[in-house]
Amino acid sequence: MNLYDRIPNNVNLAEDKKLQRALEKWLPNYIDWWREMGPEGFQEKEVWLRTAVDVGSEGWAHFDYVKMPDYRWGIFLEPAQPEAKVGFGDNYGRPAYQEVPGEFRNALRRIIVTQGDTEPASVEQQRQLGKTCPSLYDLRNLFQVNVEEGRHLWAMVYLLHGYFGRDGRDEADALLERRSGNPDKPRILEAFNQPCDDWLNFFAFTMFTDRDGKYQLSALAESGFEPLARTCKFMLTEEAHHMFVGDTGLGRVVRRTAQLMKEGDVLELGGIPLDIIQKYINFWFSYSLDLFGGEISSNSADFFAAGLKGRYKEQEQYTEHSAANENFTMLVVEDGQLKPREVPLRNALNEVLRGEYVKDCEKGLARWNKVLHDEGMSERLFLPNPRFHRHVGEYAGHHFDIEGNLITKEEFERRRSEWLPTLEDREYVRSLMHPVVEPGKIANWIAPPAAGIKGKPFEFEYVRL
Ligand SMILES: [Fe+2]
Ligand SMILES: [Fe+2]
Repeated sequence: MNLYDRIPNNVNLAEDKKLQRALEKWLPNYIDWWREMGPEGFQEKEVWLRTAVDVGSEGWAHFDYVKMPDYRWGIFLEPAQPEAKVGFGDNYGRPAYQEVPGEFRNALRRIIVTQGDTEPASVEQQRQLGKTCPSLYDLRNLFQVNVEEGRHLWAMVYLLHGYFGRDGRDEADALLERRSGNPDKPRILEAFNQPCDDWLNFFAFTMFTDRDGKYQLSALAESGFEPLARTCKFMLTEEAHHMFVGDTGLGRVVRRTAQLMKEGDVLELGGIPLDIIQKYINFWFSYSLDLFGGEISSNSADFFAAGLKGRYKEQEQYTEHSAANENFTMLVVEDGQLKPREVPLRNALNEVLRGEYVKDCEKGLARWNKVLHDEGMSERLFLPNPRFHRHVGEYAGHHFDIEGNLITKEEFERRRSEWLPTLEDREYVRSLMHPVVEPGKIANWIAPPAAGIKGKPFEFEYVRL
């Protein structure tokens, strides 16, 4: 572990001078980007952050106060498996690829660039949030997520620089040039151009959109291209905390809302009504579903065949790794109706991965509904049908109600405000966002967490302002 190098790493960077030089050239541009687009107003504050210092399951992280620009972004891969094999597809059982397979070079670069682009995008989306934090605990969690997304960008840039030569370096530069929501140079995926300017958005984003990341990374962690698999495995370790922030954050909002419901009118009491929470769920869940790509996809078939992108827990969950002789049935729109269509399983792997994601999201909903139950409420939150409000794939261009029934565009527009946040909803939520920065204090619209971070109490001074 070369922890005190200019670029901390466990990939023996010092022995690859060319790569080291390339990354050291990229580093100042990254720091410039961070200063320009990272959390606004807090760059010089000390934040109690965890820093990755190892990749082992024990003690991989170190907690201390650090100013964010001094965070030790580094390159950490899970250790190589000397006997690693391609775990699925047409090359099943052959030695894992240590270099990029030539015929899939462009496709693989695209996968890495698309994943890499989401990392700085989310930092940009969230850069104003610190100013309205509901507590120091939440402020610290926001910054933890932000610096780790920065590190994930490093992880992808390492692959681009290390395995793709010139065009990889160009792509690494472009990752610092696009800007979330900028009409001229937007981020690649739509969910990452949506504003994330209040904390309800932030919690929904980390719950639903970071969770898409978990499933993409899990599929890539199965990859026969070993450097990618090893990179993604370690990113998943960090990603778990981001989903924890979203999952528990929304759970705490739900708890506070339930408490206020017992006292009177939630709006009058300055809480977030359940129907607004539901609309935020509908919004971020549907946008996050789009991130999995089309239901029927020849790319997904090609990537699986080549051994580049597997299924979720391919090794643990499946005994048959070719997926060549099975079919998958899904509903598609045909002649204005929903009809079943059978497609080769390999072409349906985006949808299979999306299905795993939906199951995982349902567990989150069950946790929030348990909060409602425990607070004595009969109301429940739910996930919209996956066909609802889609912009990518088979259901894009059609309109569905929240239960997934095909409806007309007119009906959708008529009922849009029942299902998706209105301008008024967003303005109301924003009106609640005032900073609470006294240690141990919390905003009125959210309940405190059940515990602090790493054994520290909620009252701990997580950020020194
Ligand atoms: Fe990430
Ligand atoms: Fe994340």
